[in-house]
Amino acid sequence: MKSWPYPRVAAHRGGGTLAPENTLAALRIGASYGHTMVEFDAKLSTDNIAFLLHDDTVDRTSNGHGAAACMRYAELAALDAGSWRDARFAGERMPTLAEVAASCRELGLAANVEIKPCTGRDVETGRIVAAETARLWSGEAEGAQGVSPLLSSFSYAALEAARDAAPDLPRGLLFERVPTDWREQTAALGCVSLHASHRHLDEALVGRIKAAGLFMLAYTVNGLERARELVRWGVDTVCTDRIDLIGPRALDA
Ligand code: G3P
Ligand code: MG
Repeated sequence: MKSWPYPRVAAHRGGGTLAPENTLAALRIGASYGHTMVEFDAKLSTDNIAFLLHDDTVDRTSNGHGAAACMRYAELAALDAGSWRDARFAGERMPTLAEVAASCRELGLAANVEIKPCTGRDVETGRIVAAETARLWSGEAEGAQGVSPLLSSFSYAALEAARDAAPDLPRGLLFERVPTDWREQTAALGCVSLHASHRHLDEALVGRIKAAGLFMLAYTVNGLERARELVRWGVDTVCTDRIDLIGPRALDA
């Protein structure tokens, strides 16, 4: 990838703090603020349906209880994934990746598909989510916004399986804190980008990563001045919860 085709701002979990995370309502709210890129978390139900959920369990973000890895998608889809955030979101569900792909297309949103395996399911989650992403976003070969969906994961094993299943999709390796062997890990996975928590970044580290030919996404950046500083250092995309404060054009030159 010679140049970075993604917008400067990505809405975290769809609609940041303004919507129940990882729902279709979140994508709509992200788009309603003018955003053109969303990040969301994809994992597998026990019957291997790719769907959106951040945690290993459904407890925090739905009216259900238990480990998602033990639930069939039909059980997950029966849960209310909106009311925990606000009564006006009652009835939102944990959408399938297929529903999300259709929504991104309709809303003109570029996608950062974060592969978020349930504990112990790294390889099959990487493989299935990547293959599904390639298939679902293929019609418009380049995807919404004229760009391919960007895969990412904290899980090396998941991203390795994703590379093997969908070698043509761009990949970014995610870190909380960038480890010393980031060059080796990103090279082995054929990554185009490195994604890291902004909290542990400094100008020199960003410079080294960029000089190595990698693009950079920083998360979760909720201050406008901090976002501008990161972009000055060379960060290519900032992922934010404050989709209202850091608007789609807020970081343009
Ligand atoms: O992909 C960036 C960010 O979403 C990673 O952290 O825990 O919010 O998925 P998390
Ligand atoms: Mg995420």
